[in-house]
Order: sequence, then structure tokens, then C-alpha cells
Amino acid sequence: MKHYKRIKELRNIINEHNYKYYVLDDPSISDGEYDDLFKELESLENLDPKYFDPHSPTQRVGAEPLEGFNKITHQVPMLSLANAMNSEELISFHERSKKMLGVESITYVAEPKLDGLGVELVYKDGSLLHGSTRGDGFTGEDITHNLKTIRSIPLQLRSHEQPLPSLLEVRGEVFIEKSEFNKLNQKQELDGLPPFANPRNAAAGSLRQLDPTITAKRPLSIYFYESGLIEGLAFENHLSFLSSMQLWGLPINPLIKPVKNDQGIINYHKETEQIRNKLPYEIDGTVFKVNDYKLRDDLGTRSRSPRWAVAGKFKAQQATTIIKDIEIQVGRTGALTPVAKLEPVFVAGVTVSNATLHNQDEIDRKDIRINDTVLIERAGDVIPKVIKVVKEKRGNVSEPFHIPKKCPVCNHGTYRSENEAIWRCGNISCSRQVKARIQHFASKGAMDIDGLGEKVVDQLVEEKLIGSISDLFLLTKKKLEVLERFGEKSADNLIKAIKNSQKTSFPRFVYGLGIRNVGEHIARLFEKYFNGDIEKFSNASLEELEAIEGVGPIVAKEVTQFWSNLENMKLVKECLELGVSIEKNSETQINILNDQRFVFTGSLEKMSRKEAQEKVVQLGGRASSSISKKTNYLVAGPGSGSKVKKAKELNVTIINENEFLKMINSN
Ligand code: IVH
Repeated sequence: MKHYKRIKELRNIINEHNYKYYVLDDPSISDGEYDDLFKELESLENLDPKYFDPHSPTQRVGAEPLEGFNKITHQVPMLSLANAMNSEELISFHERSKKMLGVESITYVAEPKLDGLGVELVYKDGSLLHGSTRGDGFTGEDITHNLKTIRSIPLQLRSHEQPLPSLLEVRGEVFIEKSEFNKLNQKQELDGLPPFANPRNAAAGSLRQLDPTITAKRPLSIYFYESGLIEGLAFENHLSFLSSMQLWGLPINPLIKPVKNDQGIINYHKETEQIRNKLPYEIDGTVFKVNDYKLRDDLGTRSRSPRWAVAGKFKAQQATTIIKDIEIQVGRTGALTPVAKLEPVFVAGVTVSNATLHNQDEIDRKDIRINDTVLIERAGDVIPKVIKVVKEKRGNVSEPFHIPKKCPVCNHGTYRSENEAIWRCGNISCSRQVKARIQHFASKGAMDIDGLGEKVVDQLVEEKLIGSISDLFLLTKKKLEVLERFGEKSADNLIKAIKNSQKTSFPRFVYGLGIRNVGEHIARLFEKYFNGDIEKFSNASLEELEAIEGVGPIVAKEVTQFWSNLENMKLVKECLELGVSIEKNSETQINILNDQRFVFTGSLEKMSRKEAQEKVVQLGGRASSSISKKTNYLVAGPGSGSKVKKAKELNVTIINENEFLKMINSN
């Protein structure tokens, strides 16, 4: 009992410090002092596990990764915002609202539009119940385990300054600050992992993890800005709801403020646009919301967006610079893409030195030439593009640019197919194409061969150790370890990684072949239709392919064209002969467990828990780590704990290891 008093006290103290740090942005103790309090709480909780509380500030990272995401239906749909592209459209929003309401003046709440991911959190009597993604607005994914790792999200709301509603659904944006994003990407590079394209993608990837220990390492932040359903408390306007959220301990963006009428809207929009690059996080516009909830009701909503709010979009950011050169990049399919090499210029918070010129038509249309001064634009995360040439600045000696008639890599002739804007190198043995095809084959979504990145592939092709995807399976440690930058260990690792990749799936292998327009999704459709049989797939006729639901005529044509090339047939045959084995998907296999859900607890004697879980999935069942109403069987071994009790409460069938083995061996 004596511990309990201190445990409770520490939980309160820590929650209050979180509030001061994350909501008020005004910490009153040092990080070191905070850590000491945290450690004291952790050790007392460990001493006395009976005082375990899932909402204690120490309980942010769950023990086991999830098997998959459950769905959560939003009680109130999470709508989008209608966009106003410029000042006129912002003013019309105000005019329309005034007219519909029959009033002369309207107070709005002005907010920055954060460029992150919308999420919803549900609190029951002040305790965090669950959290979800926006999804399609009606149903999202349960990402409670990941949201709990965000330290600025309270697990327990404060209640001593503002009464709590019995049910509170709040919405906000999860994002990563620019400086944290840069640090994260530096770390990715050190770990040999690909960098994230932008903070938004990094935040999205972090929330999509099944393992919360990974999310916990990502520097995620959140600001709250709206409500969903609230029970047991009513609000008259948005400002008072926002200030209550703050008192409950939910962080609110400090730039939010009330504004009046069109002038207020325009001023806020302009001021915010001016400071956007100085803010620590990315924003892509402003949001204006009618403050008075009664007026919101009167305005109502359209099918996808409310009439009481609008998003003011920022102009894409532009700058002028000089095209120093135009480089031709050759892709996996031989496509020649012109890329402008720019005099580096700072725009939208980053230094830009490349811009895509797309194709010859685009170059002709804009009359883009080397040495031209150009206006470039960077919008969101897309590659910068050239808007126009500043013709007045063009010198006397300048010539139109033409994509060369010969491939810049292999000197082979180029061609352009009917209806296509793109020129291609016609040599399928072009070294750049060969390298890019092998890189694609080894990439994450395909064979996922660890350690076989761009540089290594280039090196192996240049050393003539490989010339096609199947050659990868002929590599040996001996051949590798004599190469520059390779040692015994790295040679061994790469050979092992190649070997490991050989046990693969139909979608991975087919996607890896790099058939144009065949992504992972389409590959999965083929897997289903051809029951994972590559031979049947390779012999399919155009008509048969077109008849598959989700497969269009273009894809069907690409596929038949691919297989009509005997070289491709030979490559695939070689891969299979050299050890690539395509595992049947559980769906296409005899599905004896028929989607039934299994949870394991205690120890197993005949196999490890991981093996048992894999077996369940292979046989068409589902393995999960926690019990719910949906669980069909709890497999309990010696040393089982609280799960047995929970299974009994939920009427879940409990079986032992032998009974489980009988079930799975009955086929
Ligand atoms: S209000 C109907 N406020 O923008 C109200 N949304 O296009 C919709 N967003 O899905 C939400 N900052 O993810 C609101 N201050 C803000 C916002 C904001 C960013 C995102 C949010 C939403 C999307 C709507």
C-alpha cells in the first residue's frame, strides 16, 4: 500500500510535467529530473505488479507486435475540407456563408493546415480507449499501439481544471518536425536504409508499423483540432472546445486564433504563407472554420466536406535559376528521361539542383534549352518542375534541345512507339537497363535481397559477374570476396541473402520480373487466378488475361509481349532451376483453418511459438497475440497466465498443444 500512494503521486506528477512540456510549451524541470521521476515510477511498478495500470505514463510501448490492423468505424465520419485555391475563392467562401446564414459578420477560427496524417482518439471517462487512422473517412485502422508511443498524447486526460465528458472523440494531425525528419533520414542512411521522401511519408510509415517499438523510435508529434462524438458535455463554439482540449492535456497549435470576416481571413492566410518556411513543421495551407456551433449546424455539410469550413491552399513555391545541362537518364524499360541539371537554388525550404523535363514534347512545348534561365516550382513532395523559360534572359547562342537518337549509355538507336511521348533505347542488353532490371528484381517489394543495392549491382555488372537476374544465383563467395569493397564477411552475407531470397512468393517474383505496368497488386491478381502457377501464367492468352477482373487490355498486352520474348521465358526457367521456389499462398493452399483465429500462451513443447503461429497462417488461419471476442482458440501450454482467465470470460475454446497438433495435421 505504501508503494501505491507514491505510484499514484508519481503518475500525476509526470502527467503534469507532460502537460507543461507538450501543451504549455513551458517545462518546469530538466530532462534529467524528469527521467529520475520516470525511473522511480518504473521501479515501483515493477516491485508491485498488482498496481499495473495500462494508462500509467510508463505503459507507452506494448510488448508484442500485432499480427495485423483491426478496423475501427468512426462514429462521426471524418470529412475532408473543400479547397480555396486563391484569395477570391476564400472571399467567396465567406460571401456564401454570410448569405446562407443571413448575417453580416462571421467569426472564424483560423488554423494552419498541417501536412501530416489525420487521426482520431477516443477517450472513455478520460482514459484513452483507442486511436485510428482516418482511412476512407468512415472506417480507419486501429493504430492504438502506435499512437500510445507518442509522448504528447495523454493516456489519461487531466480533469481538475475542466470537467471530462464521459465519451470524448478528438481529431488531430500526426506529423514529424522538419529538423527531426532530417535527423531521422541521416539515421536511415547510417543504417543502410532508404531515406523517406518527406516528413509526411515518414510519419505515415511510422504509424503503419505493426511493431510499436519501431514507432516509439520515430519523432512523432501531434496537434489536435476537431472533435468527433462527445457525450456528457456540450460546447457552444470551437474556441471554447479548443481551450478545453488544452486543459485536458491535448496539445493545440499555438498559431490558432479567431479572425473576423473576409479581411481577417485574407490577412491570416497571407501572414501564415509568409512564415511557412520558418515554422518547425510543414504546412500546406490554412483552415478557416465557423466558430459558432449553432451556425455550423445551420450551414450543414456536403457529402464529403462541411460547408462551415474551408482550406486555403498556398501557392506552390517558385524560384528562378539556370539550366546548366540536360542529362538523359535511362530507366529499366529503356525509357529516356531528360533531367535538367540546375544551378542549385533554395526553394520551399530545400536546395534544388534537378528538375524533371518529362519528355521531348514537354521540352518542345516550353522551348527549354541548355543555359536558359527558368522559373521552377516545387509543390509538396513532387520533383520540381520547370514552369517556363525566361526568354528575355536567353543569350544569342542557343539551340533547341533534342533527345539524342542514340542511347547515351550503349549508343544503340532509340525509338518511340505510336501514341507514346517517350523515347526508348532499343537495346535490351543496354548495360543501364540490365543494371536497373537487376536492381528492381532485388528490391524490397520484389525478391528483397539485403545488401544488393544500386552500387553493388552496378559493380557486379561492370565486373561481368552478372548480366541477368538468373546470374545472381550463380554467384559464389569465392567470386565476390576478391572484389573491391568486398571482404570475406560481406561476400558471405550477400550469398546468404541471395539464398534466403530464393524461397519467395508468386507476387514478389512476378513483380520482380519488371513486366511493364505489372505492380504488386496486379501480380497478386495473377497469383489468385493462376493459383500461383508460373507456367500457366506464362502460357496464358491475351483473351484469358483480359478476362481477369482488375486486369485491363494494356496490362494483358504487356504480359503477352513479355512472354513472347523467348529470352524472358529462358530467364524465368533458369531462375527456377537455380533454386527459386515459389511458395503457395495460404489462400491458394488447402485452407484448412479457414480464417479461424488462434492465440498462444504458455510454452509449447514440440515447436516454438513463432513456428506455431507461422503454421497457422500457412494453413489459412490467423495468429494473434491478444485475446478478443473474435478469437476462436486459445492454445495454452504450461505456465499460462491471465490469458486463460480472459478466454474463459469471453467463452473462447481452450485447447492444449496436442489438440492443436491434431487439428493442423488432419490434412
Ligand atoms: S479539420 C471537416 N483542421 O486536412 C474538418 N483538418 O482535408 C476536417 N488537416 O483530414 C478536419 N490541418 O487531416 C482540420 N487545422 C486543421 C487541419 C486539418 C490539417 C487535415 C486533416 C484532414 C484534412 C482535410
